[in-house]
Amino acid sequence: MTNNIYFIANWKMYGSTSSLNSLNKLINLSKLKKYNKAKIIYFPPFTLINDFIKKFSKSKISVGGQNCHQHEDYGSFTGSISPKMLKDLGCQFVILGHSENRTLGESDHVINKKIRSALNKNLKIIFCIGETLKEKRKKATHSVLRKQINRGLKGVKNCQNILIAYEPVWSIGSGLIPKSEALEINVRKIRKLISKKTKFKLPILYGGSVNSQNITSLKNITGISGFLIGSASQSSKKFIDIIKKTIN
Ligand code: 13P
Repeated sequence: MTNNIYFIANWKMYGSTSSLNSLNKLINLSKLKKYNKAKIIYFPPFTLINDFIKKFSKSKISVGGQNCHQHEDYGSFTGSISPKMLKDLGCQFVILGHSENRTLGESDHVINKKIRSALNKNLKIIFCIGETLKEKRKKATHSVLRKQINRGLKGVKNCQNILIAYEPVWSIGSGLIPKSEALEINVRKIRKLISKKTKFKLPILYGGSVNSQNITSLKNITGISGFLIGSASQSSKKFIDIIKKTIN
């Protein structure tokens, strides 16, 4: 990994205002020259975005929303947050297509609409793709990835603002990670599929049970530009450990 390395913290539905105190060490680390290549992005729950943005205001750490509505502006959509609102808060990123939202019924078509809306509002996208265990067992991984990429990016022009996060659904929260060889094959496949959509070399990230132990093997996977980290990112100590073990 020679260029920027992304360390993305997805806090999901966790965290309270008291969580902010634990971030001081991370802020200090992010300012060290040694970690210049580390691009750290936090995705707290919506309730904490404002606090995180203030907390990181004097650092290079960015903040994003974990999802957004497909309508880019204001509208009568109770309980929803639009790309315009995320942008207004100071978010630079949004996660779209996460399997935890796909499972709730978010379709490729809706994800495509969200991607277009968020790009229109100048947000950068972490676009999540990945196969379920059932699909993996049926050896359908590559066809699933193809479908998710083709449908999700249909008609999308400014792809340079998209990062791809490959998160096998069976790996999320399970403690299991793919075998290195299989992961490299899937990353190569994703690269090939993306190259048919855009001339830009979009970063491909890996997500799913990344922790401070398995990072020593994951960091050697060819073609990966960083990690999307769930539970291990909720502990600053573990998150810092992951960064330190990747860049040493
Ligand atoms: P875990 O790291 O907890 O497996 O979660 C991964 C994930 O879903 C990040 O978006």
